Amino acid sequence: MDLVVVDPLRPDPERVAEAAARLRAGGLVALPTETVYGLAADATNPQAVAGIYAAKGRPSTNPLIVHVADLEAARALASDWPDTAEALAARFWPGPLTLVLPRAVALADAVTAGLDTVGIRVPSHPVASAILAACGRPLAAPSANLSTALSPTTAAHVALGLEEVEGLIVDGGATPVGIESTVVSLVGRPTLLRPGAVGAEEIEEVVGTLERREGTPRTGDAGLPSPGLLERHYAPNAALRPFDPEDPDVAHEIEAVRGEGRITGALLRSPLPLDVDHTVPMSPDPAGYARTLYASLHGLDLAGAEVVWVERPPDDPAWEAVRDRLRRASSR
Ligand code: TXA
Ligand code: MG
Repeated sequence: MDLVVVDPLRPDPERVAEAAARLRAGGLVALPTETVYGLAADATNPQAVAGIYAAKGRPSTNPLIVHVADLEAARALASDWPDTAEALAARFWPGPLTLVLPRAVALADAVTAGLDTVGIRVPSHPVASAILAACGRPLAAPSANLSTALSPTTAAHVALGLEEVEGLIVDGGATPVGIESTVVSLVGRPTLLRPGAVGAEEIEEVVGTLERREGTPRTGDAGLPSPGLLERHYAPNAALRPFDPEDPDVAHEIEAVRGEGRITGALLRSPLPLDVDHTVPMSPDPAGYARTLYASLHGLDLAGAEVVWVERPPDDPAWEAVRDRLRRASSR
């Protein structure tokens, strides 16, 4: 992919115009959002959207989130706009919340994987906003990684993962939130489809108790409530081993794995004296932890770590999204 670097807060209008022109011409552009980097294409252009699925190796049954510049453009994508959508949009947009609503017709069918609903979000990152405004079209954008790999939080992660892909990377630095948006369906009763950057409790303050999807779907059937919610997702190369700090067996396990000559790592919220090759200190608060989670796992992959011990996060609602991503990253 080609690469241009922009100021994350005040992106150069010429670079923004170049990205927008490529998108209007049906090209792929990887760009920073506040959550993770997205791989964007014109959501009204079927070939461009097909390019996203091909680049990621993404199953055609997994729908894409459509990003728009503002509330008005969001409303235009939905065939029904309930009061709950209005209230959530007013409170959380622009920002890391995706709303699933009945879809209007203007989009390429592939965007929604043939579903009659569409995931919509208005991102807050200045680079994403500027490109959306300049482009004047809704942009389909999944995370800019190969399907089932770790999401990218830097342009370097995108470049390493999508090396062979033709398109442009707009490098606007590290993404500030670090994990993906929260996905809430407003088709029927408000339902949490994916925990994420906005806490479920904050959303419940606006729309009342959220339904939860039951269990975690394992295959990509189009009939699933959110086909992208596969168990193995967001996974690093290394095998992750969640552990509790009081667990007396961890030191022995590490010794045994190192004895086999394997490279080890640890993600730690507290200063535990684990004898691993690569220790990554993590923030004790959930937002700080989320911000560096993917970058830490990418770093451990680059360091060749094969087994990584992860100090289990607290069993507290504020940690729900981090626990979700760690659980998926641990599952093989
Ligand atoms: O933060 C984010 O949401 C990032 C940035 C780039 O915006 N995007 C992202 O996209 O994480 P992706 O494709 O990696 O994840 C989108 C999730 C998937 O789990 C997908 O199944 C779900 O949203 N989704 C999209 N449209 C849907 C729909 N119509 N119904 C149910 N789930 C939907
Ligand atoms: Mg993704």
